[in-house]
Amino acid sequence: MLRLIYTSKISRDIDSKGVQEIISSARNYNKRAAVTGVLLSNFDCFFQVLEGPDILVKLLFEKIRRDPRHSEVKLVAESQVGGRLFSQWNMSYLMVSEKNDSLISSDWTKLSANECETIIEMVV
Ligand SMILES: Cc1cc2nc3c(=O)[nH]c(=O)nc-3n(C[C@H](O)[C@H](O)[C@H](O)COP(=O)(O)O)c2cc1C
Repeated sequence: MLRLIYTSKISRDIDSKGVQEIISSARNYNKRAAVTGVLLSNFDCFFQVLEGPDILVKLLFEKIRRDPRHSEVKLVAESQVGGRLFSQWNMSYLMVSEKNDSLISSDWTKLSANECETIIEMVV
């Protein structure tokens, strides 16, 4: 099983309704593909963890990478894992806004892999 983590910048023309559309189609597809994970947003950026069968996660990430609803898609980590962190969620969504937490309010496309791991620990 593959776990893939990436960050990106949210396109300016995407509002909360646009994000809801992404989530509902994601939940639909991910359920059929046995993909689980979490999508976080801090208003400026997305942070997503995808976990599931290798080939399905890779194909999905190629589609997501080309999606015009975000930009600067940056692959943070891709690793073989023995189990899921988000087994209950075909795609959990969290909008995070703790302004005094520097990790939460930062530009996620500039985070290191270790900082991304810390964010995952905060939401898992
Ligand atoms: C930030 C972001 C996260 C996304 N996450 C998923 C996802 O987890 N699962 C999914 O099926 N589509 C997701 N999408 C949507 C895909 O990019 C794509 O629109 C969708 O897979 C449908 O592609 P298709 O029309 O080529 O079949 C996401 C899009 C964005 C912008």
